[in-house]
Amino acid sequence: PAARAIAQAWWVMFWGAWAVLALVMGLVLYAVFRRPQSRSSGRAFIIGGGLLLPILTLAALLIYGTQIGNILTDRPLPAVRIEVIGHQWWWEVRYPDAPAGEVVTANEIHIPAARPVQLLLTSDDVIHSFWVPTLAGKLDLIPGKLNRLWIQADAPGRYRGQCAEFCGLQHARMALLVIAQPQADFDHWLTHQGRTPTAPADALRQRGRAAFLEVGCADCHTVRGTPADGKQGPDLTHVGSRHTLAALTLENTPDNLARWIAHNQALKPGNRMKSFDHLPQDQIAAIAAWLESLR
Ligand code: CUA
Repeated sequence: PAARAIAQAWWVMFWGAWAVLALVMGLVLYAVFRRPQSRSSGRAFIIGGGLLLPILTLAALLIYGTQIGNILTDRPLPAVRIEVIGHQWWWEVRYPDAPAGEVVTANEIHIPAARPVQLLLTSDDVIHSFWVPTLAGKLDLIPGKLNRLWIQADAPGRYRGQCAEFCGLQHARMALLVIAQPQADFDHWLTHQGRTPTAPADALRQRGRAAFLEVGCADCHTVRGTPADGKQGPDLTHVGSRHTLAALTLENTPDNLARWIAHNQALKPGNRMKSFDHLPQDQIAAIAAWLESLR
């Protein structure tokens, strides 16, 4: 609804501006081509066109703009509250009211379709801006401040968003997905995300899990159910269930995850993780295999 109101206001302004331009150009042509000896009453024209018309037009615009503003700042009772924390250069997403325990994810915001959702926006470092054009207007994420944004997706689907405030080297690769689902699917997703993944049964993934804890990944990443409780990077508890890696930089596949671990500084230069290209290829593949199984 917010995005629809913004789009409508934009089109009204667009055609309104064209109408004013057409009127002014018409008067210019009239002034150029009228015969010099013809006279018209200047006084009525100045009062009508110079005073009444702008007052009426601007008053109408003010009333219309206020109504649009009311729609945008409408405060319905939210079906879900979601915390979104900006980081250079990814989005931390938390569901404080999840029924089955803490749910923390990254770069992907699941919401129930056709329900009002309240986003609580803040930042961990610099100012970012949350913008999902098909759902709502932009709102800044500011360190030490909590901004509230209401979004609602009328239909299930994926809605792409983008950081809209320059926030450093990889600002362009700070995108996100809003995934709107029917309420039952959303409830199922949220419950599942609250679960702690089980320990791996096969040798490859066991090796991957051990390597993950050994080579330093756990200093920055959390995987619930393991000793890994780092807070610098995205929570990886259910990383295998996400569509993309590194804030929509790569599609989430085992190959891409291995590439990311080994060469992330080439894929997204300046990001806070270092490239682990010194690790043996099979060790990286094992880590990727374990992480991809965290669904
Ligand atoms: Cu975050 Cu631009």
